[in-house]
Amino acid sequence: MNATDTAVVARLAGVGKRFGRRAVLHGIDLTVRTGVTGLLGPNGAGKTTLLRILATALRPDAGELTVLGDDVLDPDGRYRIRQRIGYLPQQPGFHEWDTVYDFVNHVALLQEINDSRRRQSEILRVLDIMNMADCMHQHLRWLSGGQRHRVALAQALLGDPQLLLLDEPTVGLDPYERLRFRQVVSEVARKNAVVLSTHSTDDVAALCDEVVVLRLGRTAFTGCPAAMIAAADGHVWLSDAPGPRAATWWRAADGHYRHIGDPPPGADLAAPTLEDGYLHLVSRS
Ligand SMILES: Nc1ncnc2c1ncn2[C@@H]1O[C@H](COP(=O)(O)OP(=O)(O)O)[C@@H](O)[C@H]1O
Ligand SMILES: [Mg+2]
Repeated sequence: MNATDTAVVARLAGVGKRFGRRAVLHGIDLTVRTGVTGLLGPNGAGKTTLLRILATALRPDAGELTVLGDDVLDPDGRYRIRQRIGYLPQQPGFHEWDTVYDFVNHVALLQEINDSRRRQSEILRVLDIMNMADCMHQHLRWLSGGQRHRVALAQALLGDPQLLLLDEPTVGLDPYERLRFRQVVSEVARKNAVVLSTHSTDDVAALCDEVVVLRLGRTAFTGCPAAMIAAADGHVWLSDAPGPRAATWWRAADGHYRHIGDPPPGADLAAPTLEDGYLHLVSRS
């Protein structure tokens, strides 16, 4: 996406969050624009907490946050934000005996899509996008994991949200569903903003204009995927045996040992991949 086509959709300045005495987000500064922003980071880094704050499901306890021009601390602002965002939580709550249609209808009512004809056509639209319209009368209980996931994704698309927040949306999808998902997200991101958390650098490479790496509740990196690759320039090397100086190393498919860290003199440096960039950023002490 061209920078001149992008609009600022959310702005975070110094956002912090504590649970009890424990601080889990520290001074997060971030500008979310049209296009896809990927949130990467080890388990416990704060990705879900950040997405919940953007979704107005959690209040930040430090800093400032505007979403679609409204302040999340203002009750009227929160109301307006909720009407214009879509959110896929990491663990969506399903009522097992709801049908697919009832579940999505329930979310549409919460979003106050009150006109029944518009609501029905919107439900069919999002189920069709996720290839679930044929199953709309089935109970959620009898769906496969991948089908349930697609229903959860469908509800997030209701109302064509200007900001779509997806927490680990590709977990449990088979390769075909993953491809289909990427097409859907790319289409949404032509005019709206998507923020998604993922552990897959393949998702990032395929989708993201911007990457944010979180580590221990702080941003370790913000930039485009190419800049994340460049972050590991000069920090990836190969050898025939594991090297003691590496922050991390593994045996690659070709039998070489691939290392990330500060290379020893004369090391056989390799061109980094996106995954190397990520590992370098999160393994630095
Ligand atoms: N409701 C909560 N109460 C207490 N601690 C929480 C709560 N939610 C998350 N945490 C803690 O905050 C940290 C960040 O969690 P989370 O945002 O879920 O990370 P991620 O999604 O990156 O794995 C973790 O240490 C987690 O245990
Ligand atoms: Mg999470």
